[in-house]
Amino acid sequence: MMSIHDKGMEMELQGMQLSGKVAVVTGAASGIGLALTERFLAEGMSVVMADIEAEVLHEQADRLLATGAAVTAVVCDVSDAEQVAALRDAAVAAYGAVHVLCNNAGVASGGSTWRTKPAVWDWIVGVDLLGVAYGVNAFVPLMIEQGEGHIVNTASEAGICATPMLGAYHAAKYGVVGLSEALVMELAGTGVGVSCLCPELVRTKVFESTRNAPAHLGLRKPEAVSMEMLESVMQTTALDPAVVAGNVTDAIVEGRFWVITHASTHTRVAHRNDRQQQGLTPEMLPMGVK
Ligand SMILES: NC(=O)c1ccc[n+]([C@@H]2O[C@H](COP(=O)([O-])OP(=O)(O)OC[C@H]3O[C@@H](n4cnc5c(N)ncnc54)[C@H](O)[C@@H]3O)[C@@H](O)[C@H]2O)c1
Repeated sequence: MMSIHDKGMEMELQGMQLSGKVAVVTGAASGIGLALTERFLAEGMSVVMADIEAEVLHEQADRLLATGAAVTAVVCDVSDAEQVAALRDAAVAAYGAVHVLCNNAGVASGGSTWRTKPAVWDWIVGVDLLGVAYGVNAFVPLMIEQGEGHIVNTASEAGICATPMLGAYHAAKYGVVGLSEALVMELAGTGVGVSCLCPELVRTKVFESTRNAPAHLGLRKPEAVSMEMLESVMQTTALDPAVVAGNVTDAIVEGRFWVITHASTHTRVAHRNDRQQQGLTPEMLPMGVK
């Protein structure tokens, strides 16, 4: 009897050549999104850079334009479905097609899950999960019509195993993983591929996410102590975003769903799954476990 693992029954993705193609990257003004933008440009693509932080977005886009790169900047809040649909329209108006969409914009805010305020839940889930969902709503029909496309959803290691004090972030990122797994199955045979990016720490401004929090949340000044702790972790174990952008590029070209950037993620997921199968309560393995 054939099993799902037998060759021929596996649902492999089609890879895509990138030169001459068009990418849309959300959260493109900083960190992983900026690194993706730079890598795609180096691959010979045109890039629509989208971000909520208008000033930094325009600074970065102008810097790249000055090098002769084909970039267009669009200010967009991904937690607003209408703005994401307008982003698609702006990309099509600028370049006539969209071949790669990186639903990458994201924010994080720590704190105990049971004390997280409704407005903070709205912000984290709105950007990290609904931002991805709205990207899928807006761009997948266009890609199906083109018969070609690739969606890259930025989840996190935090989307496949959990640590304390990040409950809202985990809820959103587990959601992105589930959404992406469903989507790749639904899009089989359409010419549209899906990848799910699950990094552990990357050297970016993610721990300064509250810079973009709605003012009424009162989150814009994070606690100094936790920031110092997190920044020291960032300097020691975090990956260069350019490495992550390279991993994503390989996944699109090779047609690979999972983009796992740190080997230690496999250890932590295996630990979680082992305990689940044994009926044991979740327990945290320290960051950086090999
Ligand atoms: N840095 C890490 O260690 C790490 C690990 C796992 C996953 N991630 C994920 O990577 C993604 C990119 O984050 P990063 O680490 O590069 O952080 P970053 O803060 O450097 O970049 C995030 C970008 O998203 C933008 N953004 C925030 N809210 C937005 C909104 N509502 N609409 C549009 N843009 C918005 C920000 O202005 C910023 O430019 C996020 O989804 C994050 O959750 C990061």
